[in-house]
Amino acid sequence: MSTAEKTFSKGLEGVIAAQTEMSFINGTEGILEYVGIAIGDLASKSSFEETVFLLWNKRLPTQSELEAFTKDLRSHYSLCDAMKTRITSCPIEAEPMHVIRTMISSMAMDDSSPNENSVEAAREKSMRILAKTPAIVAAFDRHRRGLEAIDGDPSLSFAANFLYMLNGEKPTDAMIRAFDICMITHADHGLNNSTFAARVVISTLSDVYSSITAAVGSLRGPLHGGANEGVMKMLNQIPSVDAAEDHVMNMIKNKERIMGFGHRVYKSKDPRASELMTLAKQLAEDTGNIEFYDKSNAIEQVMEREYAAKGIYPNVDFYSATTYHCIGLKLDLFTPMFVLARIAGWAGHVIEQLEDNRLFRPTTDYVGPHDAPYVSIDDR
Ligand SMILES: CC(C)(COP(=O)(O)OP(=O)(O)OC[C@H]1O[C@@H](n2cnc3c(N)ncnc32)[C@H](O)[C@@H]1OP(=O)(O)O)[C@@H](O)C(=O)NCCC(=O)NCCS
Repeated sequence: MSTAEKTFSKGLEGVIAAQTEMSFINGTEGILEYVGIAIGDLASKSSFEETVFLLWNKRLPTQSELEAFTKDLRSHYSLCDAMKTRITSCPIEAEPMHVIRTMISSMAMDDSSPNENSVEAAREKSMRILAKTPAIVAAFDRHRRGLEAIDGDPSLSFAANFLYMLNGEKPTDAMIRAFDICMITHADHGLNNSTFAARVVISTLSDVYSSITAAVGSLRGPLHGGANEGVMKMLNQIPSVDAAEDHVMNMIKNKERIMGFGHRVYKSKDPRASELMTLAKQLAEDTGNIEFYDKSNAIEQVMEREYAAKGIYPNVDFYSATTYHCIGLKLDLFTPMFVLARIAGWAGHVIEQLEDNRLFRPTTDYVGPHDAPYVSIDDR
């Protein structure tokens, strides 16, 4: 293809750069499906474990397949001593996202064949990363609170085990279900920035750890997974439900971005936001946090009036902020929750990339000078 035939799309908007059988998104109609199943059905009927099996195998498991998959995942819940030492050597002021990125990268050193890139090896490594990252987050949070890490409990589900390792007590069924739904709704989402980063890295046949590490680095940006923290900061700044309208109108006047709104793909309400809105309301009522939900709702109404015509609606991060707050998570653990879930999607895409690899290597549109003279340093 000659340069003239190539088209430039800033931010690769609208460019199809990979094929996937995992998630389908219709941004105009607000549809998200995993392997053809509506996200709403999965959120109400499935579990995170079953959803991961679905994404990695492109079909729902039988009962015995789900049991075997879950058993395998649970067998990797705990951290080795070397990892625990690395976590306790992190400064307690470190941001959890930096710790997670560093620790997932370091997992390669605990693997006797870190560079093995067969699809089977990638599945095994993905299973370990998926199972152990919750333990990394929980152990670091406990370390900064001066507490010992708690080993995973293989009798617990992914969601229950994380909350148990974090808090040292068994969570309520309502908390477990809420957390599980958060994990399901965040598991995969097409070729988003972090998933693209993961596919780009594995396309060099580097290794699974490098690929997932790159994805974590991408996700922490405020335009991507970091937005849920931004939403919570905004909710904390708004003193009451009645003050929400003025606060948002001031932000709009100052041309500030309202975190948790807008999406590159959705030009209608993100279906994940609809699922999480219902969840956030229920949890807020149950935990005495209804003001956070009411403030969110007031913000959504202002945004609907001011921005719906531009196709800017709540995205996944908007109601996940209230949900995580009600679960009792600290602000800087919000984006890490996105990591725990999205490892499922990143790993699935890594596997898809390895199954039919082609090195990502786009080109640039050179807009600089030509035939420039080399001026010696004394004459510049
Ligand atoms: C997600 C996001 C980066 C996608 O944006 P995009 O497709 O690149 O769209 P653009 O940044 O080009 O924005 C298009 C227009 O909408 C406006 N816009 C987009 N999101 C906005 C928001 N959250 N608040 C206010 N205005 C917004 C932009 O200012 C721009 O306006 P203009 O045309 O007058 O300049 C963007 O919506 C955003 O920054 N949202 C807030 C962060 C967030 O919630 N991220 C999580 C995504 S899941």
